[in-house]
Parts: sequence; C-alpha cells; structure tokens
Amino acid sequence: TLGRPALPDFFRLHAHETIGSTMEECRRLAAEGAPEGSLVWAGEQTAGRGRRGRGWASPPGNLYLSLLLRPGLPPADGAKLGFVASLAMGGALAGLLPRSEERVRLKWPNDLLIDGRKTAGILLEGQPGPEGRLAWVILGIGVNVASFPSDTPYQATSLTAAGGPADPALLLAGFAARFPGCYDSFRREGFGPTRAAWMSRAAGIGQPIEVRLEQETVAGRFSTLDEEGRLWLDLPDGSRRSFTAGDVFFPGL
Ligand code: BTN
Repeated sequence: TLGRPALPDFFRLHAHETIGSTMEECRRLAAEGAPEGSLVWAGEQTAGRGRRGRGWASPPGNLYLSLLLRPGLPPADGAKLGFVASLAMGGALAGLLPRSEERVRLKWPNDLLIDGRKTAGILLEGQPGPEGRLAWVILGIGVNVASFPSDTPYQATSLTAAGGPADPALLLAGFAARFPGCYDSFRREGFGPTRAAWMSRAAGIGQPIEVRLEQETVAGRFSTLDEEGRLWLDLPDGSRRSFTAGDVFFPGL
C-alpha cells in the first residue's frame, strides 16, 4: 500500500492505490473548487496519459502524481510552470542518486534525464478562467522509479536502474520538499531565476539537436531557453527559429 508520507502544509494529499489517470481525478477536484496544492498520487494508473496524445505506461512501483495550482497567470505563462516543476523533481532525483551533479539533466520542454535517458515526463493542462487568467493549471508528473518502458522512441531508464532507491513515496517527499520554494521564487521574482536554474541543468545547450513536430523535423544548434520558455535553434543557414512545443532528440543517442 502507498502509506501517507508527511508533506509540507502547501499540499493536500489524495492517495489512490489504482486510478485511471491522476489527471482526470485532479480535474474533477479542480472543478469542485479544490484549493491550490491538492495533489493526487496513485500507485498505478490504468489509463495514464503522456504529452501530445500519447499514453504513459503506469505499472505499480513508479511515481504518478497530479498537482493542482491556481497561479492566476495569463494562459501564455502557464507553460513556465513546467520548468518550475522540472527543477523541483530534478532536485528530488538528484538527492537520491550518487554522483547526481553530472547525471541528472533537464530536457526541453519538461523531461528529466538520468545519464541521458528519459526518467520522468511532465504533462501540463490549463483551464481558461475569468479576466483572461488561468482558472487552474494541473501539473502531471510520471517518474520511472522501479521500471521503465522499452518501446519508446527515445532511450529510457529508471531511478532504480540508475542506482537509486525503489521508493516512490521517498521521491514524492523529495519533490514536495522542494516544489513550494521553486514555485514561490517563480511567483515573487518572475521566470528569470527559474530560467537561469533550468539552463544550468539543461541537456544539449550549444549542441546539435533535432526538434520533431507533427509534420516536420528541424535540425539545428540549441542556443537558449527564452523568457517565455521557448526553445531557440540556430539553423544551418544562419537563421534562428523558436519552438513552443515539440520533441527534442539528441543525434547519436
Ligand atoms: C510525457 O509525455 O512525457 C508526460 C508524461 C506525464 C505522465 C504523468 S503520470 C501522472 C499524470 N497522470 C497521467 O495520466 N499523466 C501524468
């Protein structure tokens, strides 16, 4: 069973052994007027969802959570919360791994890598509200703790395979210890410090990457993350192009 880890006051924990998707349960709570900090945690999911309409394999042993936020941001700023969450979960993973400094990297937009392999993904959903503000944002985070899928287009790994503990509750506690501080910094100081911290832990800056979109794949050099959370590529013809969505691949990995 999941147990009940003690979390900071910011959170209200809703734990489920099995659920379809923590996203749907969190949306239901949001619609009921649940407060910011409501956190749905599941031991396994039968209908886990990934980014861009993909599924998310969700067997027991990994971490599945959805966190409800009500930041009152304009819709265009909602995506910045994915970087805030990446920092908190990246810190939590690093705290559980030996030699973590070089090993844990953040991959645009919201993936976490250990030793260059995908270990966690983040799904962001928002609901437009009154006065052009978001009524809520739900951050869905899935972390491969005990196992990882083998049928993915990129290489994956798990916290356990990387030498960390097989304990989703411990990772949840590590995330919960870090998230409120990361969120508070973003709200008080804007995206600048989050962006700088993300860049310092990012994978592939200054290196050749590919951004895959529905209809095309664009190759170039990853120059920066900008103030809006966009990825900028320097293209071979000397021009630049920005992206708000897409899948990044590192050639040769
Ligand atoms: C990705 O495609 O990289 C994002 C994956 C997000 C998966 C998490 S698991 C908890 C939450 N519930 C879901 O159904 N999806 C997210």
